[in-house]
Amino acid sequence: MRILFIGDIFGRPGRIIVKERLPELVTQHTIDLVIANGENSAAGFGITPQLAEELFELGIDVLTSGNHIWDKREIIDYFQEANGNPYSPARRLLRPANYAPGMPGWGVYQGRKKDVPYAVLNLQGRVFMAANDDPFRVADQILKEVQAKVILVDIHAEATSEKMSIGWYLDGRVSAVIGTHTHVPTADERVLPGGTAYITDVGMTGPYDSVIGVKKELIVGKFLNNMPVRFEAASNDVRLCAVVVDCDENTGQAREIKRVMVS
Ligand SMILES: [Fe+2]
Ligand SMILES: [Fe+2]
Repeated sequence: MRILFIGDIFGRPGRIIVKERLPELVTQHTIDLVIANGENSAAGFGITPQLAEELFELGIDVLTSGNHIWDKREIIDYFQEANGNPYSPARRLLRPANYAPGMPGWGVYQGRKKDVPYAVLNLQGRVFMAANDDPFRVADQILKEVQAKVILVDIHAEATSEKMSIGWYLDGRVSAVIGTHTHVPTADERVLPGGTAYITDVGMTGPYDSVIGVKKELIVGKFLNNMPVRFEAASNDVRLCAVVVDCDENTGQAREIKRVMVS
């Protein structure tokens, strides 16, 4: 099974490049399953139900997220409306699984694509981030209940050490551990000895003439003055960053992970 994982889609520029380039990427890399992190789809901050469904329409099977998931409040209703309906499209939008128990939404999705069962698990780190539950032990609990062999984990975290530790901790138990949140692609993609594909950060899909997606002058000003500022999405040098993971659909073990960047 060949999986395309697209890094944090940032604002309209990110959504447009996905629309323009996804069909040829799917053909070129013979992709079976498409996963994307959508936490920055709405002008950099959160995602609305409408934007989630537009991204599903483009051919994304599952959307993951992270710390920006609650930025657009309507997403809470979207999750609540899907309660009790396993076929609602809202079930295919994940928020990190290690949020406090009882929060709206789900952190894991189990589906089938081309007759292959698969699961997607979304986790968030705790280093330089909110004090959520332990992503390591939450992953242990969830993996006990997952039947699929093909399992992808989005570790949405700030610290390289924490992401890499999740990678080693889950090596041999999942097909891939893919880092998101820092918006800059790292050159450390590899298949770990147990058969888990790993990358510290897949990179952002959005405007690179920016500071991690936001107009650079606003962020530079913030560092200079420390005054409150309203962040706005940048628009130039738009790139789509992703990885292609090739894995054995019977064992779930990864054979290869490749970085992709198109502009
Ligand atoms: Fe992000
Ligand atoms: Fe994030």
